[in-house]
Amino acid sequence: MTILRSMLFAPGDSEKKMTKAAGIGADAVILDLEDAVAATRRPLAREMIHQFLSSADRSKCEFWVRMNPLDSKDAMLDLVAIVGGKPDGIALPKCDGPHHVVQLAHYLEILETQHGIPVGSIGITAIATETAAAPFALGQYKGAPRLRIITWGAEDLGAALGASSNKDEAGNYTPPYVLARSLCLYGAYAAGVQALDTVQPDFRANDKLLRECNEGRRDGFLGKIAIHPDQVATINEAFTPSSAEVSFAQDVIALFAANPEAGTLSLEGKMLDMPHLKQAERVMAIASRAGR
Ligand code: COA
Ligand code: MG
Repeated sequence: MTILRSMLFAPGDSEKKMTKAAGIGADAVILDLEDAVAATRRPLAREMIHQFLSSADRSKCEFWVRMNPLDSKDAMLDLVAIVGGKPDGIALPKCDGPHHVVQLAHYLEILETQHGIPVGSIGITAIATETAAAPFALGQYKGAPRLRIITWGAEDLGAALGASSNKDEAGNYTPPYVLARSLCLYGAYAAGVQALDTVQPDFRANDKLLRECNEGRRDGFLGKIAIHPDQVATINEAFTPSSAEVSFAQDVIALFAANPEAGTLSLEGKMLDMPHLKQAERVMAIASRAGR
């Protein structure tokens, strides 16, 4: 499955931003119908997104739509309006657990059939830490239909918990949000889908973004959400293996291939065993997506 290093949000009621977002080099654009669009603008935004999808150049990046939460009256209106535009996927906010993914998958199946779109072609990203119940379900996503990505969010979770802030004095996430981030990572790998790190909302602070990207990459996230065009290049770069990493991974794979009987080997004075081979294969898979 294609890895999406960067997913750039653009408000669905802004023709200008949607157009601009599509040309920035993000692996995917998420056209938003939820929090970035005022309720009164949603009917217009639905039409604009449908129109935009119908004429977008689909060769450079994927186009996703963030719908409204399933328990809102907007949810059905969103899906009915935009599925005919054949988005690559739907981002589902306030996702409480795999049952919400299953429910959305049923709706998509009906609408794909109605529009003559191959059934199953529209994927799902679960934004899976935005309610108080959500973190408890993160270990249960294995086998959830259409699921490609699990990501997390700290802003809505803070609101759900009545928190006055989700960061401490030093600007670091407090324990409830660190837990949500970790569970997102475990949950994604347990489900065999891509772990996507959350947004850095301070979009002028490239140093903070870079630090978060490096931390995310270190921990196993395969990409990160962007909300501003200036964030995309930094994210793409950080989540693309460097040539040194690629050549080391190639060496590891070649060494194991040349010694099929060996469980453990040494390279450059370091011990290598199965986890290293697995990691090397992962690096190559990510690198091939990025065209290296
Ligand atoms: N997608 C596409 N273009 C964007 C963009 C985005 N997410 N964010 C900013 N731009 C454009 C601006 O329109 C502007 O274009 P111009 O130079 O042609 O006039 C340019 O990039 C520079 O923007 P800037 O002035 O730095 O930011 P801003 O104050 O206009 O916008 C935000 C700041 C946060 C409102 C804007 O980045 C945004 O709308 N982000 C997405 C919000 C969203 O979808 N949130 C939901 C998920 S959390
Ligand atoms: Mg939100």
